[in-house]
Amino acid sequence: MNSVVCFCYGITVEDLEHAVSKGAKTPESVMAATGAGDGCTSCHPDLDVIVPALVKKLKLKLKEEENSQLGLF
Ligand code: FES
Repeated sequence: MNSVVCFCYGITVEDLEHAVSKGAKTPESVMAATGAGDGCTSCHPDLDVIVPALVKKLKLKLKEEENSQLGLF
C-alpha cells in the first residue's frame, strides 16, 4: 500500500523513504530529491514530521544490521 503524502505530485511515504535511503536527511533535501512540496505546500507540515521519523528509522535499521554483523543479536 502506498501512502500519498504530497497529493500535488503523488509522492508517497515509500518515495520519501527511498530518498532517505539514498542519503537525503532533511525535509528540504528529500523535497529536492522527490519533488514533493513544490506545489501548494500543504504537505510541508507532514514532511517536517515524516522525514525525521524516516531518518530515525533508517538509523535504527543500520544500527541493528551493524549489531547483527557483530553477533550482538
Ligand atoms: S500536497 Fe505537496 S505540494 Fe501540494
